[in-house]
Amino acid sequence: MKCWRWRSNRHRIYLFTACAVLFLLSKYISSEKERVDEEDEELNPVALQEEEKVFSATAESKIECEPPGSIESKCTADNGKPMRCWKDEEDVYFPVSYLKKRFDMTGRVGKDGSTFELFTSYAKMRTPDANYDPLGVFGHFSTYSVETRDRVRCISAKTNVPMSTQWDPVPYYYPIQIAQYGLQHYSRMKLESLNKTDSEVILGVKSNEWKGAAGMHETTERLFFNDEEKGKVVNISAGYSLANAGAYVYLDKSTDLHVVSFDWKPYDGNASFTVLAKMKQDDLLVLINYVFSEGNGKCVWQEEEKSFDDEFIVQKPKKDGQVSYSYSYIGSKPFGEWSTVTRDILVDVARALSSGENRKKDDNVVLHPGDVRLVSLGFRGQLAVKQQIFQREEQHLHAFKSAADWLAENQDVKGGWAVPVERSIADRKLVLPPGWHSAMAQGHGISVLTRAFKHFDDEKYLNSALKALELFKTNASDGGVRAEFFGNVWYEEYPTTPGSFVLNGFLYSLIGLYDLSKLESLNSEHNSKIQEAKELYSTGIQSLKQLLPLYDTGSGTIYDLRHVALGSAPNLARWDYHAVHVYLLKWIANLEKDDFLSKTADRWIGYAYGKRAKHN
Ligand SMILES: *[C@@H]1O[C@H](CO)[C@@H](O)[C@H](O)[C@H]1NC(C)=O
Ligand SMILES: *[C@@H]1O[C@H](CO)[C@@H](O)[C@H](O)[C@H]1NC(C)=O
Ligand SMILES: *[C@@H]1O[C@H](CO)[C@@H](O)[C@H](O)[C@H]1NC(C)=O
Ligand SMILES: *[C@@H]1O[C@H](CO)[C@@H](O)[C@H](O)[C@H]1NC(C)=O
Repeated sequence: MKCWRWRSNRHRIYLFTACAVLFLLSKYISSEKERVDEEDEELNPVALQEEEKVFSATAESKIECEPPGSIESKCTADNGKPMRCWKDEEDVYFPVSYLKKRFDMTGRVGKDGSTFELFTSYAKMRTPDANYDPLGVFGHFSTYSVETRDRVRCISAKTNVPMSTQWDPVPYYYPIQIAQYGLQHYSRMKLESLNKTDSEVILGVKSNEWKGAAGMHETTERLFFNDEEKGKVVNISAGYSLANAGAYVYLDKSTDLHVVSFDWKPYDGNASFTVLAKMKQDDLLVLINYVFSEGNGKCVWQEEEKSFDDEFIVQKPKKDGQVSYSYSYIGSKPFGEWSTVTRDILVDVARALSSGENRKKDDNVVLHPGDVRLVSLGFRGQLAVKQQIFQREEQHLHAFKSAADWLAENQDVKGGWAVPVERSIADRKLVLPPGWHSAMAQGHGISVLTRAFKHFDDEKYLNSALKALELFKTNASDGGVRAEFFGNVWYEEYPTTPGSFVLNGFLYSLIGLYDLSKLESLNSEHNSKIQEAKELYSTGIQSLKQLLPLYDTGSGTIYDLRHVALGSAPNLARWDYHAVHVYLLKWIANLEKDDFLSKTADRWIGYAYGKRAKHN
């Protein structure tokens, strides 16, 4: 590829940097992916994917060129390191690769390929709405997509909340992730309900919609009757092997309607159901089975097709164009009782396709409405199904309620949501053994539960939120989340000893306390607890005002205070974390109408655009 020719001197630097950047972009993209993997739950991967698109669109070819009219020279940088550089009568030009690393910058070639932009932060600085409603949309969480994060193994078919594999290969419940899943869906529900009426299709009402598979050894019986409680119901008796299609209903072809919901009553653990879906891109048929099996704790796994050949079990070659995955569906209700199933099949297909045993980091499959068409819903074993199969676009309310219920039902005696896996930070200098609590989980949990209390008008959620306060009063050394930094109280995202004082987790915990402090109750016991939340919040705000300057480098921010607590180098915040700091600080500055906090946030925004504090 030839270099562009420019007449104007002004453009020389652009041209050169553009060439250098094209040369480098592929490197940049791969390092970006690795970075995403080590993050906590506070970042929104959707935003990062958008950024990546911008870069990959320009990273097509390798170009070697140099500024016209310049000559290559020998330069050194930073204590004698030899370096290529170019020189003309006016200036000296260093490679962007060097500038980028040395000054923590990023570069981007314009869409038409003829301009180049050098900028400081790769993350966009956003600020929240000035008026925060503690029962409304939660920050910018409506743009979150918890279910497509690669560390989310699946949305459990047992509890309907996400399970994580970030710090352990065996899927586990990570309370922060679950709360974010709830807040994401609540926020979307709040935004969308303003405009949209969810379209919905109801299937299976007529008995002739219920087809029965008839194999060599299998019969499928369907008995239609009127149930006193449920109305029209079909009683199904079909062979329980997953190879059997059972009794099934064809689903609506509209790719927008990827959520399936129905009431069923399995009579025993041999009952199962399967959604057959077809990928738009390559016509691959994906069977998603929901079975009463723990699946060795795997959450979702691929079914091997086994058959008997004489005495040996042999693996059947995979049927062409078809894959089969199972989700563990251990109902919360005993057999012989009705329950409602609601699944977003688009999400379940994506998590299934991402779930290979030896999957690599970039095997994460993200699907969008339009990518998958539902074909049929089939049932096996002994069971009854209400003749009303819903197909919808979204399941925000269900996802929100599932998260709130999980939080209300899985609180330990201390009022906490313990994390069941070890967490180590600072090169294992600080290790939290399994069972640790996080102020961020407590705060996020409260933000979900206060909303659930008001939305469903159910006190179990309020009681759970109030119980979550206890750990804010318990020292980190005693299993709580409270720490002190030179006499200032801090709520720890990672309550290590010594403390780590992570800023963003602390700020999220304050927002949880704020949400609770704004509730009103007629019950005096509740009110005294709500008063406690108010006090914990004010104490936290005092500390924030005292300690905030310690997170300010004059050109960026610091993620935690390990440099003080451990005497290590400061843990500078990546630009996407810096953006989180800015957003949260503005959020709290708005709540407090506080000038110091607001001005600090404004200065931090400036850092993202290359402004720096003045020298002495
Ligand atoms: C709702 O509709 C209004 C007016 O058409 C539009 O400005 C707004 O962005 C919409 N909101 C959402 C969440 O789609
Ligand atoms: C439905 O099937 C179950 C189990 O096979 C059976 O116990 C029940 O009596 C059936 N109900 C009706 C109305 O036939
Ligand atoms: C499934 O069916 C088999 C054969 O009918 C029976 O032995 C077994 O107990 C059933 N399993 C469950 C979990 O009900
Ligand atoms: C908690 O820690 C603070 C100092 O960090 C100490 O003063 C206080 O006594 C501790 N509380 C308990 C219950 O141990």
